Amino acid sequence: MAEKFNRATFTRNFLKNITRIKNPDEMIAEAKADGLEKTLGVWDLIILGVGAIIGSGIFAVVGIAAAGDGSSLGAGPALMVSMIIAAIACIFSALCYSEFATMIPVAGGAYTYTFATLGEFAAWMVGWVLMLEYAIGFIAVACAWSNYLMQFLQLFEKSLPSWIVHPPVWLTNDVFTVSKIAAENPQISVPTLFGVPICINIPAILIVLIITAILVKGTKDSAKMAGIMVFIKLAVIFLFVLVGALSFAHTPPHWLPFNAHTFAPNGFAGICSAAFLIFFAYIGFDALATAAEECKNPQKDLPVGIIGSLALTTVVYVLVALVLTGMVDTTVSTPIEFLKAPMVYCMNIIHHDKLACLISVGSLAGLTSVLLVLEMAATRILFAMSRDHFISKRFQKIHPKYKTPALLTWTVGGLAVIGILTLNLNVAAELCNYGTFTSFIIVCVAVLILRHTDPKRPRPFKVPFSPVTPLLGILCCGGLMAYKSMQAGGSALLFPVWLGVGAIIYLLYGFIRNRDNENKIHRELVHGFLKEESNK
Ligand code: ALA
Repeated sequence: MAEKFNRATFTRNFLKNITRIKNPDEMIAEAKADGLEKTLGVWDLIILGVGAIIGSGIFAVVGIAAAGDGSSLGAGPALMVSMIIAAIACIFSALCYSEFATMIPVAGGAYTYTFATLGEFAAWMVGWVLMLEYAIGFIAVACAWSNYLMQFLQLFEKSLPSWIVHPPVWLTNDVFTVSKIAAENPQISVPTLFGVPICINIPAILIVLIITAILVKGTKDSAKMAGIMVFIKLAVIFLFVLVGALSFAHTPPHWLPFNAHTFAPNGFAGICSAAFLIFFAYIGFDALATAAEECKNPQKDLPVGIIGSLALTTVVYVLVALVLTGMVDTTVSTPIEFLKAPMVYCMNIIHHDKLACLISVGSLAGLTSVLLVLEMAATRILFAMSRDHFISKRFQKIHPKYKTPALLTWTVGGLAVIGILTLNLNVAAELCNYGTFTSFIIVCVAVLILRHTDPKRPRPFKVPFSPVTPLLGILCCGGLMAYKSMQAGGSALLFPVWLGVGAIIYLLYGFIRNRDNENKIHRELVHGFLKEESNK
């Protein structure tokens, strides 16, 4: 009987602990007491937003999304419709992020919002899943950056030494890619350790270390650097759209004369498939919410930053889609060059070699700013998790001169280097998508819950037409995730594995750390009380 009673008490306490909700007022007070320096204004936010969003999605993935011949399920000229569908799916979540970011303007984004609504365990899991989006996404984009750099250097084949243009494959790729290349080309020699190829992707590692150093130096400096990168990539895209549109004076665009069959060669399935792929190109606006604590005026500036950067990118993407599908006939088989770097390919077919080269520079700038914001977001989430005792308090230490979480930023940079040495780009990118979908869905759910549990809390920005808007967000992201899971194979299995590992780490580490901390607070209270009593 006694044992049964104990078990019931244990279960009750356990459930109480894992569903412990953190009061938003407590979070705001903590952030005021030992928070990060407030340096970001509305333009910094828009720049960081555009910096995080425009990257490999529009410079590369868009080619695959456009290819709509019989062998590939892209959208063809209807790519612009896919762009708008993906943007609409994002806007529902963006509105929910804005409501939360203005209501609880502290570091941590979706992780923080979950702690305020669904409790300790769900918050840990969301923090863990967000590491897929930001930390694993960071690794994926660093590997993509390395690929772009190698492509760019090849433009200077005649003037640069061969060891720079054509370095050994094991110094510029991940272990999976190198194993594949070595299997297909037995003449290529790769050093091995216990039979496993040694691969050190030097450009990816270097860019990670450089970005980490910039982030340690200061959020304001990082925003400035992102500003330069954003300017370069937007200028390059603007030139591309202008030159491409002018070329229509000689060669009419392929989407004219309008005909439903040639406009959407794969029908609605092709449009949806492209919308799913191009969703990746919009990832990043949510990273702004993680920097809420560093905003000078979060209530006013964050919704403008989040929705403004998303709106600006949508316009840019639709223009690019119009020009790309106008210049290249995407209803027939497209060459590999188009699929890899579609804008560069378009400029090459109209013999604008210099602009093709500039677009390569713009691609590198685009990826660099994405890297900056992804690493910043990863550190801000871990910072919030350290504040909540999930990970060591040491990570909360702010650099005395730069006022940034330096130790944490270097730790994330170091872990990313390990990831680069072991992970495959495609797997990392797909896992990043899963993390993003999950966090978007959770934020929409959290808005609905907090509206119900805490309806009186001041909301400087309110999601319009709630509950319809958050429900549509859940539906769109859930639908895209389900669609992806049915197609994805390997990475679809890795996602539940990631979740399972996260749950185990919580039970063996996060849960215990939190209880230890609660006991410590309890002991301190008792100690203080006894001291007061003895002084009386
Ligand atoms: N949206 C980011 C990109 O396209 C992740 O690279």
